[in-house]
Amino acid sequence: MRHLTDPVAGGTVCYLSLQNPCNASCPMCLSWRDNSTLQGLPVAELIRELARQHWDTIMFTGGEFVTFPGAAELLAVVQELRMNIGFITNGTALTSQYRALLARLQIRKVILSRDFPDAGQHAQWRQLPEFSDADIRDVLTRLADDGTYVQVNTVLMPSNADRLADFPDVEFWPVVDAWHLIPVKGPIARGWSDALRAAARRALDSLRVNGLTYFVVGPSFFHAPIEDVRASRPTEQAVRGRTCQVERSQIYVDASGEVLPCNSIAWECRKTVGFGNLNNTAPADILRRRALALATNHNAARVGCHACDPLNMLHNDIVSGQ
Ligand SMILES: C[S@@+](CC[C@H](N)C(=O)[O-])C[C@H]1O[C@@H](n2cnc3c(N)ncnc32)[C@H](O)[C@@H]1O
Ligand code: SF4
Repeated sequence: MRHLTDPVAGGTVCYLSLQNPCNASCPMCLSWRDNSTLQGLPVAELIRELARQHWDTIMFTGGEFVTFPGAAELLAVVQELRMNIGFITNGTALTSQYRALLARLQIRKVILSRDFPDAGQHAQWRQLPEFSDADIRDVLTRLADDGTYVQVNTVLMPSNADRLADFPDVEFWPVVDAWHLIPVKGPIARGWSDALRAAARRALDSLRVNGLTYFVVGPSFFHAPIEDVRASRPTEQAVRGRTCQVERSQIYVDASGEVLPCNSIAWECRKTVGFGNLNNTAPADILRRRALALATNHNAARVGCHACDPLNMLHNDIVSGQ
């Protein structure tokens, strides 16, 4: 088991949500219900500007990024500029169809989403084809051997709370460096009850994950009033009035071009809390507006803040397995 440190944490990261249309239809996700798609040219221009300003990493995300028509070209731009490449995938990027593409790239970080330990149950939930865990293990092993950091994201939901203890049995688990549990946001969070939350807590407490760093989702998730959890705002109390450290090292470009302070802005606030839109404003101007906003503690009320996952990581317990 490896004990790599996240090569992307601590540096500057631009999340690029290239498109909302997706090859999956996950019940908890709003992405695939909307057709917004970025244009390749403004995105390439933004990447070049970020490189000029010495940003470190581009993380590709959104409706499965490899299915975006210009994905290969944008990945090549990032590689050519010697920035770190990372991505969040529903698994499609790890299939044999994209093997040649990945082989051309130096990938620093892969995040694979996995919501249920059982591959069939996961595929059914996401309405995706079932990817073989043995194949995923082989791809992740190849990537890890080349130095890629491997994270698994699990959306923590009422429907998988009683399955958490089984995750370490997943076939590719030995090659995973970190497990990030993200409390579900949106309508599905309404299904949380005290009993289900306690079940999740018991499952996590029972886990001994050899060598793997896993991020527990408390204390905010476990200690916040259940109504805050059900309203998708489990850490709102913890972040209100604070100067957010996360937005100082991130931007998130959503598929409609809005450049947002981080990757955890509530869907309904995206048009109002951003620094500008890539489709009508030059990247250098957007980044200038961002610098001015950060200098003025612009969002201490945390408007749109979904009490984000990276901030959770900073504030919550980080538990290391033996
Ligand atoms: C929107 S997805 C985009 C990347 C890719 N399509 C995927 O699913 O891995 C980014 C991350 O957000 C998670 N996610 C989706 N819907 C969510 C929700 N309602 N609450 C919390 N996380 C969610 C996904 O599981 C994934 O790990
Ligand atoms: S795979 Fe990712 S983007 Fe696509 S619907 Fe699911 S969570 Fe949303």
